[in-house]
This record gives sequence, C-alpha cells and structure tokens, in this order.
Amino acid sequence: MQFADLSDKVVWITGAGKGMGLAMAHAFAKQGARLALFDIDAQALAKAQDELDLSGARCLSLVGSVTDVSRVNQAVQEIVQTFGQLDVLINNAGISMNKPSLQVSEQEWLQTVQINLNGVFFCAQASARQMIEQGCGNMIFMGSIYGVTTAPNRAAYCATKSAVVALAKSLAAEWATHGVRVNALCPGYVETPFLTELVSRGTLDKEALEARIPLGKLASAAQMADVALYMASDASSYMTGHAMVVDGGWTADSFKVTT
Ligand SMILES: NC(=O)c1ccc[n+]([C@@H]2O[C@H](COP(=O)([O-])OP(=O)(O)OC[C@H]3O[C@@H](n4cnc5c(N)ncnc54)[C@H](O)[C@@H]3O)[C@@H](O)[C@H]2O)c1
Repeated sequence: MQFADLSDKVVWITGAGKGMGLAMAHAFAKQGARLALFDIDAQALAKAQDELDLSGARCLSLVGSVTDVSRVNQAVQEIVQTFGQLDVLINNAGISMNKPSLQVSEQEWLQTVQINLNGVFFCAQASARQMIEQGCGNMIFMGSIYGVTTAPNRAAYCATKSAVVALAKSLAAEWATHGVRVNALCPGYVETPFLTELVSRGTLDKEALEARIPLGKLASAAQMADVALYMASDASSYMTGHAMVVDGGWTADSFKVTT
C-alpha cells in the first residue's frame, strides 16, 4: 500500500526490537524511510536489523534505554551524523504493569513511570532540539486506551499512559510554531510479545478480551503501523495535539464487562 510518502524521511523508533515498534520499522521501510532503531534488548535489535537488512532497508541500530538521558541525547547525535536529519520520532518503548495496586512495589511503580513517562519526555526533548533547528518534525507518542479511560489493576499503567497523552498535547501546543507536530496513538489490545506474555502468565484471557471488542479480535501490530504511517505523513498535516484511539470499538462500548 503506498499512501504515505515517507521516502528518505529519517524515522527514529524506540522499542523497535519487537512488537509494534518492529512492525512500524517494516512499514516505514516499505515507504522508503531511513530508520534508526533503538531498544534496550541488544539481541532483539540485532534480529530486527538482520530482517530489515534482508528487505533492503537503510537502518542504524542503537542499543540503549529511553530512561538514560545521556544515551538518548547521544542517539540523536548519532542519527544526525549518519543521516543528516531527524524527521519523525516514534516514542514507542513501554512496559506493562498489570497487578492489584496493593501488590505493586515501589520499584515497579518507579520503573513504570521512568520508562513509560520519563523516557517519552527525554526522547521528545532530545528530538525536538534537532527538529526545531530544522524547522520541522513529527512525533508520535505511544499512548493506549488506558490513556483515555481506566480499568482496575493497572494504576501505574493508566497513570503513565494518560500522562503521555497530556504530554503529547502540551508539547504539540508548545512546538507547533516550530513546525513540529506531536500526536498520541492510543491502541486497544494488540497482538505483540507484550500481550502474549500477559496471556501466558494468566493475567489476561485472550478469548474474554476478544469477546469484549466490538470488532471481535485483537489488533495486529501491522494494523497499528498503518495508522502510524498516516500520522507521520503529510496526509495528517493539520493534525496535532490529538489522541488517536484505534481500539476495534473498545472504548465506544461501555456496556460489556471488562476482564
Ligand atoms: N500490545 C498492546 O496491547 C498495547 C496496547 C496499547 C499500547 N501499547 C503500548 O505500545 C508500546 C509497544 O508495545 P508492544 O506491545 O509492542 O510491546 P513489546 O513488549 O512487544 O515491545 C516493546 C519493546 O520496547 C523495548 N523496551 C522496553 N523498555 C525499554 C527501554 N527502557 N528502553 C528502550 N527500549 C525498551 C523492549 O525491549 C521491546 O523490544 C508500549 O508503549 C505499550 O505500552 C501496547
């Protein structure tokens, strides 16, 4: 499908080793983008790079954590040294935190805030320094339906994802005059290693989830990547500060009981 002209755009994807980040890397590569893949998991990143090399994509792999501010700043420098510019940031790295609130340890709470919220800000700030100098840029922050609604046993996750949505809106308003657009993508349940792990631990029941979704099934990572292509392209040029919910109808249907 060729609906987004991203040829030669330089796209930095955090959490690109697996799941939606990896699906987005493939989708953006197919549209001709040059990629900077960033992940804490060196092995997953090497596998992703091999797959993308085979498809002829032009990509740079960077191992690091979004929580490490100096590594994040250095990553942007490496991207600009390699490709000469940075056009799109996909601020995607994140972790789940799904357990009763009385059982959440201090370390688990802090780690969720550090990766899901602080890391998103650090990557946005480092990218904006370059994008503002260029006079243009585009950021997509990975929110969730739990950034626009809530459910029990997910306090840290809901708190960080709603903060990510607020951060996208605030930065969109702040950087619009510099030509930088910022939006949040808020998926429902997507079939990725993140979700598979929750299902295999018995935390989530896949059949019950699918019964709860009006469209009747989980999203694929590729379906979310298609939405990201639209958000990153000029087809959405007037869209900024928006939380784009793509959830198979989950939030539209408040009648069914949540699992
Ligand atoms: N899968 C879902 O149902 C779903 C739904 C809504 C939102 N999300 C969000 O989408 C994003 C991607 O989710 P996914 O399902 O693809 O997850 P995933 O676990 O399949 O992949 C996430 C990737 O991020 C990397 N990562 C984790 N911590 C990192 C860090 N500190 N620094 C750099 N990389 C790090 C992991 O190594 C992994 O490769 C997350 O922000 C998640 O909260 C997921």
